[in-house]
Amino acid sequence: MKYVRDLKNLNEKRVLLRLDLNVPIKNGKITDQTRIDKILPVINFLIKNKSKIIVISHVGRPKGKISKDLSLKPICESLEKKINQKVILIKDDILKLKREDLFSEPKKQIIFLENIRFYEEEEKNDTDFSKHLSKLADIFVNDAFSCSHRAHASVSKITQYLPSYAGLQLETEINALKKITTEIKRPVTCIIGGSKISTKIGIIKNLIPKFDNIIIVGGMANNILNYLGNPIGKSIKEDNCNSIIDNIFKTAKTHSCKIVYPDDVVVGKSMEDKAKIKELNEVKNDDFILDIGPKTIRKIKNLIENSETILWNGPAGYFENPNFALGSCEIAKKIVEKNKKKMIYSIAGGGDTIAVLNQINAIENFNFVSTAGGAFLEYLEGKELPGIKALN
Ligand code: 3PG
Ligand code: MG
Repeated sequence: MKYVRDLKNLNEKRVLLRLDLNVPIKNGKITDQTRIDKILPVINFLIKNKSKIIVISHVGRPKGKISKDLSLKPICESLEKKINQKVILIKDDILKLKREDLFSEPKKQIIFLENIRFYEEEEKNDTDFSKHLSKLADIFVNDAFSCSHRAHASVSKITQYLPSYAGLQLETEINALKKITTEIKRPVTCIIGGSKISTKIGIIKNLIPKFDNIIIVGGMANNILNYLGNPIGKSIKEDNCNSIIDNIFKTAKTHSCKIVYPDDVVVGKSMEDKAKIKELNEVKNDDFILDIGPKTIRKIKNLIENSETILWNGPAGYFENPNFALGSCEIAKKIVEKNKKKMIYSIAGGGDTIAVLNQINAIENFNFVSTAGGAFLEYLEGKELPGIKALN
């Protein structure tokens, strides 16, 4: 792998910089800035070396359609303030953009292309689209570890058409995760939550041999509860997962890995509702399961108490509404309590998990915090991520 930090002579060079600025945004306001803060080193490095920077990022999942709510505008404005320098968002159709259209004013140093997932070619890892993007720049830098598990045009295919380098944050994250995973102390407990069930449910089976306990909370827990015959009302779930879950339980038995899931839940009639604790069999047809219940919290705290290492990706509930944030906050507090006594090694990853930790100022008491969620889990799985493979 070649690293951007080793590059000399970046003066006036056009750098196509892939970042993951997929930050949580509510009513047009960014609710957690961590992913922006983490890429300031690479931006400052390129500014110092007088490169011309073309930033590419995605936000959300617009699925190839333009969506006003998923513009990179608030992110550009935030970055502008942080680096005290003008950042220009180019809203023109990327497909019609020509090299000479960019940096026509010589003083301008940083431009953003609009959300790259407005183009269906991105997720298709499209060859022509990647070639077209490559013509806009001289070199490519990937500083988006957290979306390097996606074989997308601006992460993977683009590397075939430009000299490509690893960014500073990507390098930091890979080095940290490499070290952590080779020096891990048992018992190891992995907590997996969040709402991206399809990304994560297939990974669990491969994590089982590496861990002593896997705690499943968040959206994926609904699938497990449903599989075991419990009602889940209108809660999110992924279809056709029963054979995957079958396999999870079988594999766990072979490897003596404990699979832990909720014993009780917290529901609401909508995402904005108040919290109501329920036993598993009490969930009604019009209920949404939005958090774990008190019995489950106690069980998870007990497992954390008896672990040497904890890895955590994905909140336990819909923490965006404080009524459903208790499960996630209690997990975080228990880890912090043990970490302060230096009795646990703790790693957390993912945009939403970081947002939870920031809400209760817990970040400082984790040994390592990765910007990556899905990519973090796939890395733990031992997979070579498409974006990293492309750099190698
Ligand atoms: C993330 O938030 O994990 C990354 O930005 C990837 O997003 P995705 O799951 O929509 O590909
Ligand atoms: Mg995310």
